[in-house]
Amino acid sequence: MTRSCGRDNGGGPIDGSWELLGLRGRTGPEFVVEQKVLNKAIWAMVTLCEKKDAYTAEHQLRVAQLAYALGKELGLSEQQNDGICVMGMVHDIGKVTLPGEILNKPGRLSAEEFNLVKSHSKVGHDVLKNLEFPWPVAQVVLHHHERLDGSGYPTGLRGDEIILEARIVAVADVFDSMVSHRPYRPAHSPEEALEEIVRCRDILYDPDVVNCLCRISEKCHFVRAYR
Ligand SMILES: [Fe+2]
Repeated sequence: MTRSCGRDNGGGPIDGSWELLGLRGRTGPEFVVEQKVLNKAIWAMVTLCEKKDAYTAEHQLRVAQLAYALGKELGLSEQQNDGICVMGMVHDIGKVTLPGEILNKPGRLSAEEFNLVKSHSKVGHDVLKNLEFPWPVAQVVLHHHERLDGSGYPTGLRGDEIILEARIVAVADVFDSMVSHRPYRPAHSPEEALEEIVRCRDILYDPDVVNCLCRISEKCHFVRAYR
């Protein structure tokens, strides 16, 4: 898959995902087997999600691409960034348990429905927690809706209590969600999304990650690529 800053990855949003899952720096036959098993487990989850809700599957891949770009801009190692890709690809996997009528409801969610939607991060964590990735994938899935000021869910973690990878996936997730058309609201423009994220820099979102998003948008015309 292309790790550029745009939507088009050439081979379609899902088909090219295999290449994301290399475990760099690890050699030997046992690691080859381990890599194949993890690749297949991730692929099964991506396929399941695609069957359930194409929007969520494609959103996850775009988040993986953007989170990778953010990690690179932040100077993370290639191995860390491989993990960021995996985290992005499965961050909403818990949504497969939500009814389609709620996922694609055109109107406002009731409090009960919203609580159900919020359960997806814990469900995703529970699905992933026993897979032995070389990265904290389950933890990031659990925490990708936590916010710096403690207003997020499921725990209300604050600041550095949220690990960096979760703070990166959070910014990529919010940006892609805002620029996507949803049954309950039209898409925001990339400029509007960026402006809103910058407005919440250091309140909800990691300032270093937001600054990276701004730099990426300038350097590789990311905002334009999202049109
Ligand atoms: Fe989510």
